[in-house]
Amino acid sequence: MNKSTFVKKTTMFLNALDFVKKPVVFDELDSTNLTAKVLAKAGAKEGTVVIARTQSHGRGRFDRIWQSPPGGIYLSLILRPTVPIQQVSLLSFLPALVATTPIRSYGVQATIKWPNDVRVNGRKIAGLLLESEGDGSKIDYVVVGIGINLCVDLKTLSSAIQEKSTSLLNELTCPVDYYDFLKIFFMTFEDYYSDFQAQNYDKILTEWKAWSDTLGKRVIVKTMTGTLQGIVDDVDNSG
Ligand code: BTN
Repeated sequence: MNKSTFVKKTTMFLNALDFVKKPVVFDELDSTNLTAKVLAKAGAKEGTVVIARTQSHGRGRFDRIWQSPPGGIYLSLILRPTVPIQQVSLLSFLPALVATTPIRSYGVQATIKWPNDVRVNGRKIAGLLLESEGDGSKIDYVVVGIGINLCVDLKTLSSAIQEKSTSLLNELTCPVDYYDFLKIFFMTFEDYYSDFQAQNYDKILTEWKAWSDTLGKRVIVKTMTGTLQGIVDDVDNSG
């Protein structure tokens, strides 16, 4: 798809969805999360979506690079949750569920690695980066950044990343329609987010646990104060 086709087609497509209040579409961008944070600080409303066909400096957790060649989904969603501040951390469960659901709808057994990597047979297919701002008593905004290796040719990724990654194209060996996938993605988002806003957390946690590949596993957790080892028994309601 060429530059203007992507921007026009994606803008039209997103404008027709209920959940998306304002689409901001780019052919190429440094990082959709960076732009979404600027828009959120300037007052952009909940449901604003920043999406790009490719990113030159896609950001991952721990300031890693998220390689973003054509064929992938790279988007950031601005949310302004209204639940009590102590419960906002539960929002971190949502994006992994929302990314996993459409992947599974194509018959691919995606699972969630805590906190929110989506993997297929141990290889990463989607990653999520949540960034928020608030004053300790109230959350101003949350930017949910989502990268999904949809029709990504793994050969376009660096060899170090290739070894640990997969894409839907690689799993199915046939291309998946970008807009069909996005439609399922946003319908799923709307569903889970309305449960979240209604403080209906049980459904979210139960489904997250059902798809988690971390529960029951031996893990090493590096924290600010040291390293812990153990078996993951459960995830509590604070996440
Ligand atoms: C990770 O697994 O480390 C998180 C990766 C998150 C990547 C997405 S792509 C869209 C959004 N924009 C960014 O710069 N990062 C997120």
